[in-house]
Amino acid sequence: MTTNLFWFSGTGNSLAIARDLAAALDNAKLVPMARVSGGQIPAADKIGFIFPVYAFGLPGIVAEFLRKMPVNARSYYFTVANCAGTAGAPHRQARKILHARGGCLAAGWTLFMPSNYPVMTDPFPEPKQQDCFDKMKGRLAGIAEMIRNGQTGSLEESSVPFRWFAPLVNFMAIGQFRKADKKFWVESTCRECGLCAKVCPVDNIKLVDKKPTWLHRCEQCMACLQWCPVQAIQYGQVTKNRKRYHHPQSQAKDFILRETPSG
Ligand SMILES: Cc1cc2nc3c(=O)[nH]c(=O)nc-3n(C[C@H](O)[C@H](O)[C@H](O)COP(=O)(O)O)c2cc1C
Ligand code: SF4
Ligand code: SF4
Repeated sequence: MTTNLFWFSGTGNSLAIARDLAAALDNAKLVPMARVSGGQIPAADKIGFIFPVYAFGLPGIVAEFLRKMPVNARSYYFTVANCAGTAGAPHRQARKILHARGGCLAAGWTLFMPSNYPVMTDPFPEPKQQDCFDKMKGRLAGIAEMIRNGQTGSLEESSVPFRWFAPLVNFMAIGQFRKADKKFWVESTCRECGLCAKVCPVDNIKLVDKKPTWLHRCEQCMACLQWCPVQAIQYGQVTKNRKRYHHPQSQAKDFILRETPSG
């Protein structure tokens, strides 16, 4: 049995889940969604998508990936979402896209991980982060067993009626995210290292005089802000006094798409 695990992650939570799941499965391959286009997708018996919840649904890049990838009616597809507290309806959204293209979603699991969105909240305190990591590891053995056996499962999401409103909230928010990068700015402490441009999954940062400028096709993944080594990137005024977060077992190099940033 071969399994492809397609992952998308801004700050490493989804990547940590993908890595742990790959270790628990036989013959699983990790494939970053941000680095492959439809034509390059390797074949596998089972195909999983691992991603963070954005605005109660799929990140734009994940929905786009599902819309473009080749879909096979006989493949076993599953989703593993992770969020900081309110899942909304990401699995139903993925199921709808796959169904429209002739595929079938067998199961959708949701894990709770630390918040990475400083626009809204402070990072979780460290004991609460550790609790998320422990619970995530505790659940993955059972999830891997179900995948190995090709079992179908329920879609783990918010309950009704909240779930009904989730697609509308997601649709409206994802539309706003692209241009919401107008609120990013850079402090004079910027070291001009270019890392923010390298970790951006959609090449949305151009370096002008070695400092970042944003090109308005943003996913709001927070990678640029969270991985800046000197915390020089801010979003409006709300992030000025907020600590930064990334998963403790992730490093910026895990997210680097291009060695030479644009600019
Ligand atoms: C733009 C954005 C929107 C988010 N929306 C939600 C949400 O609707 N519900 C939720 O519980 N967490 C939400 N989160 C938190 C992330 O889903 C969560 O922290 C996730 O573990 C981050 O994964 P990553 O490290 O792989 O990027 C959001 C985060 C971002 C950046
Ligand atoms: S990562 Fe931070 S220090 Fe490096 S160029 Fe970007 S803003 Fe400047
Ligand atoms: S500009 Fe920053 S927040 Fe937007 S997609 Fe790139 S790394 Fe993510």
